[in-house]
Amino acid sequence: MKIKFADRIKVIEETKIEQSLRIIEEHPEIISLGAGEPDFPAPPNVVKSAENFLEKGYTHYSPLQGRHELREELVKKLKRDNGINSNSDRIIITCGSKEAILLSILTMLNPREEAIVPDPGYVAYRPIVELIGGISKPLPLKESDCFEIHPDVLRKLITKKTKVLVINTPSNPTGTVLSKNVLEEIADIAVDKNLTIISDEAYEKLTYDGSKHISIGSFNGMDEKVITIQSFSKTYAMCGFRVGYAVADERIIKEMKEFKVCTTLSAPTFSQLAGIEALKNSSSYTKTMLKEYDRRRKMIVKRLNKIHGISCTNPKGAFYAFPNIRSFKMSSGKLADFLLKKAKVVTIPGTEFGKYGEGYLRLSYATAYEKIEQALDRIENSLTKL
Ligand SMILES: Cc1ncc(COP(=O)(O)O)c(C=O)c1O
Repeated sequence: MKIKFADRIKVIEETKIEQSLRIIEEHPEIISLGAGEPDFPAPPNVVKSAENFLEKGYTHYSPLQGRHELREELVKKLKRDNGINSNSDRIIITCGSKEAILLSILTMLNPREEAIVPDPGYVAYRPIVELIGGISKPLPLKESDCFEIHPDVLRKLITKKTKVLVINTPSNPTGTVLSKNVLEEIADIAVDKNLTIISDEAYEKLTYDGSKHISIGSFNGMDEKVITIQSFSKTYAMCGFRVGYAVADERIIKEMKEFKVCTTLSAPTFSQLAGIEALKNSSSYTKTMLKEYDRRRKMIVKRLNKIHGISCTNPKGAFYAFPNIRSFKMSSGKLADFLLKKAKVVTIPGTEFGKYGEGYLRLSYATAYEKIEQALDRIENSLTKL
């Protein structure tokens, strides 16, 4: 019998990322530069802490808004690290920052209203906007602007129906860290046009070459205009713990909390409690990871730029290189397929991140240094035969 699906299943397409993960399982000789998560394990003290809480019986639900102790600890972290003034009523703990993105958009956007999302940008924004019947408007980011947001381009996209602007710094996939000047201009535009900014800061701690992550939510007068979203996943290699959070005006957080009833009820309780240990005692672990990412970043960018036909700007944050592959006169999807077949290396086509990602590939350096070197040898060899 025919299965009568809902129309909205068309919003979600199978991604190359998922396809690649399947292929790697079946073919161990393939090297993946597709990973979107740290290759490091979670810090041992955090694992121990989670074990202790599990043994003590913290195996139940948490309050919808998250454990109070964790929110109190985050109030201190947000002040110290991000200059954001908050209190525990202004924070909601979520199942990874992905859920915080979903709850924010559910709370702020009506069907047929517009959300502007970065393009190339993280794969979750467009489908979430479209799932709720909203209109996702791509904000083109250009290599010639170092993939920074161009305030004039942003202004031109805003219509009477625009309600939400999503920004992501440091960026997945481009590695761009938005500068203070640009953030200030974006803040002015948001105030002028009465937009809510959803600021995805999942990679806030992964910045290089002296670049500083700045939270737009810390700017004067932005308390009511910004939903700041952060995560434990990348900072502490805790992706599988599923803990993230949003900070915003408490009226917004209250509504996001109501939606938790329809999503996950709570992030895992023992993960939230282990998150306190991460916040208190794992900053040196983050620094160690960062040092290694930086070593790999320098190598991957240098090596990519030596390959005939490829040029790669220096990413200032996250753990992705986003090389320009236009000179091969092939779509990024075709080139990624070619590299998978001939070089046995997984790369992600730029178009996975939106139409303005055409002409680029995303290569993750959240993979062992030697593996990246080997992958680049293979890429170079296969491309010279093209
Ligand atoms: C930009 C960005 N935001 C949010 C997330 C979601 O991460 P999590 O739900 O693990 O916090 C990711 C994951 O890759 C990401 O790249």
